[in-house]
Amino acid sequence: MQRIPLARPAWDEAMRDAALKVLDSGRWVKGPENQAFAEEFAHWCGAIAATPCHNGSAALIAALRILSIGPGDEVIVPSLTFIATATAVSLVGATPVFVDVERDYWCIDPAEAEAAINKKTKAVIGVHLFGQAFSPRLREICDANNIALIEDAAQAHGTELEGKRAGSIGDIACFSFFPSKNMAVGGEGGMITTTRPDLAEKMLRFVNHGRNDALESVELATNLRMSEVQAAIGRVQLKAIDEWISKRRKNATEINQGTKIRPNSQHSWHQYCILSENPSILINELSAAGIDAKIHYPTPCHRQAVFANHHQHGTILPVTDDIASRLVAVPVHPGLNQEEVERIVTTLSSAKETN
Ligand SMILES: Cc1ncc(COP(=O)(O)O)c(C=O)c1O
Repeated sequence: MQRIPLARPAWDEAMRDAALKVLDSGRWVKGPENQAFAEEFAHWCGAIAATPCHNGSAALIAALRILSIGPGDEVIVPSLTFIATATAVSLVGATPVFVDVERDYWCIDPAEAEAAINKKTKAVIGVHLFGQAFSPRLREICDANNIALIEDAAQAHGTELEGKRAGSIGDIACFSFFPSKNMAVGGEGGMITTTRPDLAEKMLRFVNHGRNDALESVELATNLRMSEVQAAIGRVQLKAIDEWISKRRKNATEINQGTKIRPNSQHSWHQYCILSENPSILINELSAAGIDAKIHYPTPCHRQAVFANHHQHGTILPVTDDIASRLVAVPVHPGLNQEEVERIVTTLSSAKETN
């Protein structure tokens, strides 16, 4: 019996051909593949512009800098997320302010975010956690308070909220192409998108030393460009993404463990997480059936050692602290075959009976 991994990155002849074509051409950086990938990705998610970059973490740092966020500023973030959401804020010299998540959907709680806004607040980073769209209230709250909404869409290629795809909901959005994500680029990779004409030019400049058309650096930035090989692979993957997301949705429907989906949204099921009363028993039972499973994220950001000196370190965020160590991710990726989906479904239902 073959083990079922939590992710199975797609790789085929078309991707291999695209990569080899770039290598054979000798045009390895700053070429047509990056340009085309940016345009195709922006078009696909409904943004006005996009730029490929090193990875999702670099995309977040860039987004904050593009919004001129730095020392003395505060940025509101959920504590239940991958650490990069929060460390990006610290790395630009600003302070992350941690808030709790919604009990039903596990995304940043808009009421908590609103309550945390003060004169220093410059932005909210909404994370579409596991592919679940964050609340549409966030957009209204940010607009009413004249602050930016940054989408952490690292886990949300294909997520939709009120008819808009992730990448076109916030002022600026950040994607990751880490191999386990909904789509990948054959290595490290990320994408920044924007819906704001006044940010587009700065965003395109930012990944290239802040240089303008005359090749003069007009602001402090660095080289965050993606390699042409990665962009070429990404373009091939982008052609398949809609089909892969449909497959994730179909698998999620079969797994059907009662995970709630926000009304007026489409989940993209980067992860299928189950809120378990006995996570270690569940993980052991899945493992015995040859199924990989993992807790996401056992230590919320505000409790991690990197934030030991943060004023909220060790404070209680009731929902986050209650659920963080109980969210068990099971495989839901489009690479699952029918036998594997059935094995996951059967194992989960017998685990339910024995627990
Ligand atoms: C929510 C979230 N934000 C940011 C990142 C960072 O992306 P990357 O690993 O490409 O730097 C990830 C990816 O792991 C993520 O899941």
